[in-house]
Amino acid sequence: MGRLWLLGCAAASLLLLLLHAALRRPRAPSPLPLAHPHPAAPAALLHALSLRGCGRVFIDGGAHRGEAVGRFLSGGFYGCALAAPDRVYPRRWASLGAAPRRQLMLPLREGRSFCIRSFEAAPELLPALRVEEARLRRRGVDARFVDGALANRTARAAPRLVVRYGRRQSAASATTLRFADVHAEGRPRALSERTVLGASYSLRDVVAHVVEMNRSAVLAVRLDVEGAEWWALSDLVADGALLCQVSYLFVEFHGSATAAQRAKLPSYGLREDLFDFLKNRTHELMERPGCRLKLYWRSFWASCGDEQRFIWRDSADASSSL
Ligand SMILES: *[C@@H]1O[C@H](CO)[C@@H](O)[C@H](O)[C@H]1NC(C)=O
Ligand SMILES: *[C@@H]1O[C@H](CO)[C@@H](O)[C@H](O)[C@H]1NC(C)=O
Ligand SMILES: *[C@@H]1O[C@H](CO)[C@@H](O)[C@H](O)[C@H]1NC(C)=O
Repeated sequence: MGRLWLLGCAAASLLLLLLHAALRRPRAPSPLPLAHPHPAAPAALLHALSLRGCGRVFIDGGAHRGEAVGRFLSGGFYGCALAAPDRVYPRRWASLGAAPRRQLMLPLREGRSFCIRSFEAAPELLPALRVEEARLRRRGVDARFVDGALANRTARAAPRLVVRYGRRQSAASATTLRFADVHAEGRPRALSERTVLGASYSLRDVVAHVVEMNRSAVLAVRLDVEGAEWWALSDLVADGALLCQVSYLFVEFHGSATAAQRAKLPSYGLREDLFDFLKNRTHELMERPGCRLKLYWRSFWASCGDEQRFIWRDSADASSSL
């Protein structure tokens, strides 16, 4: 009798359990925890950036010949970070005096205190960058030039388009938008192009990795990546908490300086008003309490510390024949 009763109880419990499982709605996937790279990202690529122990990090997309790294090291970014129009700062900037403004930008004056990781996707430019890297490291700077694109995907072998626009070794550029769309003025002209396979790093993954290595790290990001900024920034801005771990953001935008250029963005699957969309969203995030972002530099001609394109496009590097 006792055994039968037990059996009945067990069967009833089992039935209830099954019913419960059947009725339970599937749970929404929990959001990705902040400061962890996308699970699909090859963690090894990110770890090879050697960011452990870095209290300050400068992530530079588009090394070219190392000009921006040079400017960063000499404090050039500090100067231009203090001299931009009010619209690139949080709202309170306008009412701040000179001393608190300098205080907010102070880390940028000490370029050498940063771990510098500068990405270059045009293979032609790497040999000269290796020489520059050795020179900087001999001087005690923790700088590395990374053979890879800074974009929207972390992978060992992603295709990239490399355009040659002049005779010299350094007259090569990896590009995401069509070269003629970036250089809408018709100069320089693409002389040849090819697709290469190489490492690619998602900006979002790199930022998450920096934060994972040190939650309090001061992070500056510069992007001059020939169109890849649209996708890379969209990813970052979509994760507001992550964007807010970046203190200084310097971006040169491509293919959107004029209405005619913006009209081409939808042919890349981008919204025509993406520049404004990113600007609105970023500034909205900047105003949030605790957001560390202090500067969203945006330009169609140069990033903070760069040569203006109308200067270099007429240089020997951008000559019109091979
Ligand atoms: C993390 O970053 C902060 C801010 O730069 C720095 O003071 C601290 O020493 C860093 N910690 C480690 C373990 O690198
Ligand atoms: C990543 O960027 C490329 C352009 O480089 C774009 O074609 C692709 O759609 C983007 N992927 C995602 C998932 O946004
Ligand atoms: C950006 O914000 C301005 C001002 O609030 C608004 O007029 C505009 O429609 C917004 N644009 C986008 C694309 O979000």
